[in-house]
Amino acid sequence: MANTKSIHGEWSSRFAYILAATGSAVGLGNIWKFPYITGENGGGAFVIVYLGCVIAIGIPIMIAETMMGRRGRQSPINTLKTLATEANVNKNWKYLGWMGVIAGILILSYYSVIAGWATAYVVKAFFGGFSADATVIKTVFDDLIASPVQLVFWHTLFMIATMSVVMRGVRGGLERAVQLLMPSLFAILILLVGYAMTTGEYYFQGLSFLFSPDFSEIDSDAVLTAMGHAFFTLGLGMGAIMVYGSYLPSHVSIAKTSLYIAGADTVVALLAGIAIFPLVFANGLEPGSGPGLIFQTLPIAFGNMTGGWLFGVLFFVLLVFAALTSSISLIEPVVAWLVENRGLSRVKASVLSGVVTWALGVSVALSFNVWSDFTFFDKTIFDCLDYLTANLMLPIGGFAIAVFAGWFMQQKHVQEELEMPDGQYMVWLFLVCYVAPAAVFLVFLHVLGIF
Ligand code: PHE
Repeated sequence: MANTKSIHGEWSSRFAYILAATGSAVGLGNIWKFPYITGENGGGAFVIVYLGCVIAIGIPIMIAETMMGRRGRQSPINTLKTLATEANVNKNWKYLGWMGVIAGILILSYYSVIAGWATAYVVKAFFGGFSADATVIKTVFDDLIASPVQLVFWHTLFMIATMSVVMRGVRGGLERAVQLLMPSLFAILILLVGYAMTTGEYYFQGLSFLFSPDFSEIDSDAVLTAMGHAFFTLGLGMGAIMVYGSYLPSHVSIAKTSLYIAGADTVVALLAGIAIFPLVFANGLEPGSGPGLIFQTLPIAFGNMTGGWLFGVLFFVLLVFAALTSSISLIEPVVAWLVENRGLSRVKASVLSGVVTWALGVSVALSFNVWSDFTFFDKTIFDCLDYLTANLMLPIGGFAIAVFAGWFMQQKHVQEELEMPDGQYMVWLFLVCYVAPAAVFLVFLHVLGIF
């Protein structure tokens, strides 16, 4: 095992790493995005494709990406340079790191806007803005996204929060933020599932929407969305888990921790789905109503239940924190690179990358209102960024990571880092060499209409 350390520091323990990496994985992707894209893509069959992608593609690539990070011990760009040198292959592999850094900035630019919605909802919940009436709740949401000033304000606040955590570095900032939040978020999701159960027949309708597959509902674009979401929700393909892996102490088992993280991430997404769909049906809402779905459903639950005011505040606070622990991992690759290669202090690097991301985010905020007619292939700026990153950049990045780890790195080095029993190692190697790259490739061919 390579006994080097990162110049940026190290996680204090295995548990701290699991928390941080789970923090990166669990976020808006699970609670905001998974339900709405499942709703848009017809339910059960989409969920099965997504789960299949997590198992066959996501987990093997998560192991590969973390392993590469720990071996390279630097920002993704420099890690790839180092690993390419070690493996004696073309240095252009560093551009894979670059693509990741850029994808992180692009994702964060819209992620922060949506996290801004959640922040606004904390305040709305606090001032009793939630009601049991679905039409009132819809108006609350529509008013919010129609207001450029509000969206930019909340987005700005969220970016400031992100950058102030990132400034504090690996232990002080990243680690501390997650310790309490993850368990609390989990508890409140269980409470919401409990509430969903009180909707009786609608609870079962929600479950059957989520879990009984009807494959006629999905086309190649839905398959691409499901696969892209597997990357997005696990935080793969852009160097986030690679840079977190680079802060991982040498003795920790990468395979086991990856399984925990992927498991926790999947459970949170499914719980969110189970909490939300019964409310969708009980209130005559459309499962395919898009990015506003959770903001138009969960407030109804809070409006209805006793103590809903408090739970509403708590839920949205936790959602904001879950988003925060993901957003810090989205920006960490570029911050680490600026420190390594441009000699900036962590604080300066954070401010610089934060300002660039913020500016891009302003255009995303406007794409929900004043710039909503400004479209490209029928997609707003928000839609374009989401499609470009989640459906294209992350799968392409993940594909390249699998190919690099499986075909280009020396197996001796990989094994040194992973220290898996032979049988398990062979399974992983098979998945990462053949199954994961082939699956990504076939999905792309399918979308291009080639088969
Ligand atoms: N996994 C995060 C979520 O589900 C988002 C994310 C994407 C984080 C890519 C890191 C890298 O919300």
